[in-house]
Amino acid sequence: MILVTGGAGFIGANFVLDWLNGNGEGVINLDKLTYAGNLQTLASLESDPRHVFVQGDIGDRELVSRLLQEYQVRAVINFAAESHVDRSIHGPGEFIQTNVVGTFNLLEAVRAYWNALEGEAKAAFRFLHVSTDEVYGTLSATDAPFSESNRYEPNSPYSASKAASDHLVRAWHHTYGLPVLTTNCSNNYGPYHFPEKLIPLVILNALAGKPLPIYGDGQQIRDWLYVKDHCSAIRTVLAQGRLGETYNVGGWNEKANLDVVHTICSILDTLRPKADGTGYAEQITYVQDRPGHDRRYAIDARKLERELGWKPAETFESGIRKTVQWYLDNQDWVSNVTSGNYRQWLEQHYGNKA
Ligand code: NAD
Ligand code: TYD
Repeated sequence: MILVTGGAGFIGANFVLDWLNGNGEGVINLDKLTYAGNLQTLASLESDPRHVFVQGDIGDRELVSRLLQEYQVRAVINFAAESHVDRSIHGPGEFIQTNVVGTFNLLEAVRAYWNALEGEAKAAFRFLHVSTDEVYGTLSATDAPFSESNRYEPNSPYSASKAASDHLVRAWHHTYGLPVLTTNCSNNYGPYHFPEKLIPLVILNALAGKPLPIYGDGQQIRDWLYVKDHCSAIRTVLAQGRLGETYNVGGWNEKANLDVVHTICSILDTLRPKADGTGYAEQITYVQDRPGHDRRYAIDARKLERELGWKPAETFESGIRKTVQWYLDNQDWVSNVTSGNYRQWLEQHYGNKA
């Protein structure tokens, strides 16, 4: 079996669903179920014996050691993290706890397990760490996209905590020989994305007749990748990646935030026109900028294509259309997720920005 951490979150859950769709191999899914973890996403697996869900913390060494032993795990894929930049600005403590201390404890449990393996099982074992392009910092308009040899220059508490975890993973390979792989991916979007992040927030606010908040001038650039393409990249790296290497993952889809929001509005204008005849773009509202807001991210994904033959299947245009349609078709999931905790966050974060 494989052990997936954070498999009830946005990317982890998409990964688990895709994995079990195309593969007979079972998954142990270890997730703490923070505000970002949602078991409803995995409802289709409820009676699937190949999926074992365990609520717990990656920092709980005893629990992780027991799971590794009990299920004779052959690979660990580490998605578990605090992942939202704005939350990391309001409260960085949890980011250090999970992303840094949690990853350290996970690595130690995995190292002890791997040390005790023998022969083929030891040689075949893999630890794949899922990370972000944000560790490289920010680019100017004319800089080349981030390659794997760029310096780490994280600017937010989130990216600093992810950078620290990447360094731990690297050191556990160089010092202890742990068979690790690291992926650094650009911004993901797609089904089951928690609506605190730009794309799902804009889709749902538009439909609810609420303001579409643009930070600063809206000219910050992100490099968007459809989540299923990220999942296929992770499967490729897990199967064929060279030990100790890092692979940048991206879709060559650089877009300014304002353009992303206009694209969503025009898709909604076609799929769900407003009764009063106005366009969704009229809901766009400029709000106070994020402190330390990185101006541009862009990923050079040529190493992954050259060495392992991976390419994304979706363009931004095809992926964003599918995503908007998914949110229109899955109102149950949406209303469940927009209750409770999430509402309090909206009030706290946007309440004093307007
Ligand atoms: P997410 O916030 O949607 O999900 C994170 C999941 O981890 C949640 O289910 C949460 O309950 C779980 N979790 C949090 N702390 C935990 C702990 N201590 N122990 C066990 N589980 C815990 O995040 P996501 O967007 O799915 O991102 C997954 C990974 O991919 C993260 O490591 C993130 O840094 C990385 N990444 C994300 C993006 C993106 O655009 N979302 C891009 C590149 C890389
Ligand atoms: P986000 O989805 O939070 O991802 P990240 O910060 O990891 O890139 O934000 C994407 C971009 O959209 C980022 O430049 C911040 C911006 N943004 C807004 O303009 N308004 C919003 O309400 C949010 C959540 C983000």
